[in-house]
Amino acid sequence: MKKVNFIHLRSKLPLLLLVFLLTFSTSILAQDAAADAGANVDIAAGETLFKANCAACHKLDRNAVGPALRGVGEKYDRDWLYKWINNSQALIASGDALANKLFEEHNKAIMTAFPALSEADMDNILAYTDQPKPEPKTPVVDTAAAGAGSGDGGSVSNTLIIGALALIFLLLVIMLYLVTNTLKRIAEANGVVYEKKEKGTPIWKAFIQNQFLVLVVAIFLLLTAGYVGYGYLMQVGVDQGYAPVQPIHYSHKIHAGDNQIDCNFCHSSARKSKTAGIPSLNVCMSCHKNISEVSPETATAEYSKEFYDGEIQKLYKAVGWDMEKQEYTGKTEPVKWVRIHNLPDFAYFNHSQHVTVAGVDCQKCHGEIQEMEIVEQFAPLTMGWCIDCHRETNVNLANNDYYAKIHEELSKKYGVEKLTIAEMGGLECAKCHY
Ligand code: HEC
Ligand code: HEC
Ligand code: HEC
Ligand code: HEC
Ligand code: HEC
Ligand code: HEC
Repeated sequence: MKKVNFIHLRSKLPLLLLVFLLTFSTSILAQDAAADAGANVDIAAGETLFKANCAACHKLDRNAVGPALRGVGEKYDRDWLYKWINNSQALIASGDALANKLFEEHNKAIMTAFPALSEADMDNILAYTDQPKPEPKTPVVDTAAAGAGSGDGGSVSNTLIIGALALIFLLLVIMLYLVTNTLKRIAEANGVVYEKKEKGTPIWKAFIQNQFLVLVVAIFLLLTAGYVGYGYLMQVGVDQGYAPVQPIHYSHKIHAGDNQIDCNFCHSSARKSKTAGIPSLNVCMSCHKNISEVSPETATAEYSKEFYDGEIQKLYKAVGWDMEKQEYTGKTEPVKWVRIHNLPDFAYFNHSQHVTVAGVDCQKCHGEIQEMEIVEQFAPLTMGWCIDCHRETNVNLANNDYYAKIHEELSKKYGVEKLTIAEMGGLECAKCHY
């Protein structure tokens, strides 16, 4: 009777398990990275090139002067595309059938030649145009604005990955069990003597005895815990970068940036009082009685004209404005803007003191708001952040008689020319804490 080295095989199973686990999990984890890394393409550079050279005639998802370009990189042969983009007229003149067909189909509209674009440039552009269409952003009215760190898709995909990993792990355990059983049966069918002693060992004991398997499982659990824990920590505490979806997609970039509307037009109380305030919808209507749609140039690859126009309709619905009759219907719905910046109740912050008295720019604390399509919290708003600025910043004495008087005394006391906010008392607990 030959003795198949079955026990040996069995002891190799954990190794197989590890290999499975690693291949599956890395391929899943790598998916995200692969999606944007691709084969050495730079989507961001592609977007810039597209906006600079192509956007005048091409949109991603609808026809403009030229056809919609999303997915075009897959549609044609790459070499043909290089030739077309470098000089479509030359390609047409060469008698290329496809090029001529396109040209005819578009009423012989002539596409600009781009001889200066390298193949790498064009690969980047095509990587940009071939990105999947972004999901339309559905507004989520989040009344519990404070604290809720991340409202974006990030946490969802994390959960998915962890779920998938757990599922794979479970499948592997089942497979391992089945394989062991089958092997055992084959062995028995071949008349191999199966060591009975082994069978008697309880599973947990066998598990503990197999140090390798324990190690693998421990590593797996640690990785998962680390992943979940990290994600959790990232969303509590510091809300820097918090950019919730608002009930109406209101773009600071379009209003304060492109159309140069002064911050104080809408946040007028920032100069005069503690809070900056969010404008009432009547302020919006002072312009939007007349502006019911955006111009086509305002649309971007990410946000279409239809999307923006739909958002203005939401404003009309909220204030009860009937566009056709040009009158208010009286039916209004409150818009609950999600609060982004929020200090805890025990901390005192005053806008007018910083904006008017000290002359600090909004951007110093809020970042380049006029470039943000969606407002995001720029500064950490921690105590350390307040204190750091108070240590560094000198008191602005211009036009301020009150400070001029104490300044003289204090600068003598500290023996310095210029006083920082800290030396003025800006580090005293009671100044910021009730
Ligand atoms: C001046 C307008 C114009 C500009 C700028 C322009 N195109 Fe075009 N493009 C067209 C027109 C018009 C067509 C349709 C074919 C024709 O009439 O020549 C076209 C067709 C194409 C096609 C074939 C699309 C299809 O689905 O069949 C591709 C690819 C393309 N353009 C890429 C680009 C890229 C990339 C850029 C920027 C580097 C660019 N185009 C800039 C006008 C333009
Ligand atoms: C036409 C009106 C308008 C103008 C002009 C405007 N804003 Fe706003 N701002 C709003 C509205 C509405 C919101 C609430 C929706 C949102 O967060 O996007 C808001 C929100 C904000 C927030 C976040 C508030 C929070 O919840 O923490 C900041 C900060 C801000 N604006 C700063 C600025 C600055 C700085 C400027 C000038 C560069 C400016 N705004 C210009 C209307 C305006
Ligand atoms: C001083 C005039 C003015 C005020 C005040 C104003 N808007 Fe606008 N709004 C505009 C202009 C101009 C456009 C862009 C038109 C274009 O690009 O063709 C616009 C575009 C929009 C759009 C489409 C683009 C986007 O931002 O999503 C929405 C929605 C909108 N406004 C909402 C509001 C809301 C809400 C308020 C009040 C908080 C407001 N607007 C206040 C002038 C104004
Ligand atoms: C020195 C830093 C600083 C400057 C400068 C500053 N802000 Fe703020 N801003 C804050 C802080 C901190 C909060 C959170 C306040 C809170 O939760 O009590 C805030 C909150 C806001 C909010 C949310 C609503 C509110 O009133 O709490 C808006 C809107 C806003 N700022 C707009 C502006 C505008 C517009 C300017 C310029 C005119 C400006 N801020 C200048 C620090 C600053
Ligand atoms: C970008 C710099 C900057 C940041 C950030 C900043 N401050 Fe200030 N702060 C100033 C300046 C400048 C003054 C002086 C104003 C004046 O002349 O009265 C000041 C003054 C004050 C005062 C009055 C101090 C006194 O002695 O009268 C308080 C209170 C205060 N800040 C609270 C805060 C809090 C709370 C935060 C954080 C949430 C903060 N500040 C963040 C620049 C800053
Ligand atoms: C310039 C303003 C300012 C001064 C001065 C200041 N604090 Fe704070 N403090 C804050 C702000 C803003 C927060 C909220 C920070 C946050 O939410 O992360 C805070 C938070 C705290 C907290 C809660 C724990 C934490 O870090 O979140 C404690 C405790 C505290 N401060 C104690 C003090 C004491 C004691 C002093 C005097 C030595 C002092 N603070 C001076 C602005 C200030």
